[in-house]
Amino acid sequence: MVNVEKAISEGNASFEPEPPDVYGDAHPKDLLRAITEEHEYLQSLANSHIASAAQFDRKQLMQLFRLAAKYEANPDRFLTPVKPLSGKLLISAFYEPSTRTRLSFESAWHRLGGDIISITDRSTSGIAKGESLADVAEMFNNYGDCVVLRDNQENSVTEMMKSLRIPIINAGNGTDEHPTQALADLYTIFKWRPDLLADKPEKRIKIAIVGIPSRMRTVRSLLTLLACCSDMVDEVNIIHDGQSKELYSPGQLENLTAAGLKIRESTNLTGSLPDADVVYINAIAWVKDSYEIMGEELKLDINSPLKPGAIILHPLARGPELCTSLDSTIHNWYFAQARGAVFVRMALLTCMVQRTDMVMDIL
Ligand code: CP
Repeated sequence: MVNVEKAISEGNASFEPEPPDVYGDAHPKDLLRAITEEHEYLQSLANSHIASAAQFDRKQLMQLFRLAAKYEANPDRFLTPVKPLSGKLLISAFYEPSTRTRLSFESAWHRLGGDIISITDRSTSGIAKGESLADVAEMFNNYGDCVVLRDNQENSVTEMMKSLRIPIINAGNGTDEHPTQALADLYTIFKWRPDLLADKPEKRIKIAIVGIPSRMRTVRSLLTLLACCSDMVDEVNIIHDGQSKELYSPGQLENLTAAGLKIRESTNLTGSLPDADVVYINAIAWVKDSYEIMGEELKLDINSPLKPGAIILHPLARGPELCTSLDSTIHNWYFAQARGAVFVRMALLTCMVQRTDMVMDIL
């Protein structure tokens, strides 16, 4: 019997249609109730590019998460009579591999009724013939209403911004930033603990980040957003393998500290875990056309001494640093994080193409 026949005869061709709720697929209604709608903060995102997590302030974040929770709590609510992004066209330009970011942006846009044109491979666009990103951007102005760009060059987004007259979202530029991933990370934390939305939360959280802030775009953007919400953070513990010459980019630590984050470093993962409420782990940094794995000795599995109730976040794709033995535990919020990214991106896209009027309760 060939492998596929064997798999089918063993019952592997069926699946459970319901997602596993224990994995942090927490209901967003508590988050929705905890934030009062303030439309103007969403309107302030119109006619602006999103290149960096540093562009957001706390009020905008809260309102984005509120709208994301509204979409997540009731996905069918805004589908009639006209979907919020109907008539709008997204240019999805991914010059570097992606599973989650591209598909969740495209899923978000489709769910809101928009249409999409895509570039998924550098070799199929004019860039392969030496065309500049600024010239490509000039063309994008004619073809769509919003651009989502992933590129391995740090300056790619700013190059395009020079010519764009439609908004662009940075979906990961080299080792620099991944702002919408950080939005998804923070949205997950607030769904897990809506009490953290208070101005001065009673029970602040300790966050362990396994990664290199100077080399990992997801870590850089997350730290920047955490700095906007420093009142909920007791401390951030940066866990690394001691091999990186520069843990922080110039000025990075100073800026985060000035914003109120208490940051320390450790090379002892096992010793740090029992204290951490949130463990954020990432091992990949994109560098030019490839990726580097960092901190290969820093791994989590079912025997890791996690605090009871602690959640694990990971931007994914995962490698050996995050064992699948954790998937069926209550620590797994990384699947919820990837799922929630769709709703966060729906919220952001709605703002950027000025369709918030169609989804607000109070205008
Ligand atoms: N989190 C993330 O950026 O995943 P992808 O590389 O699959 O988009």
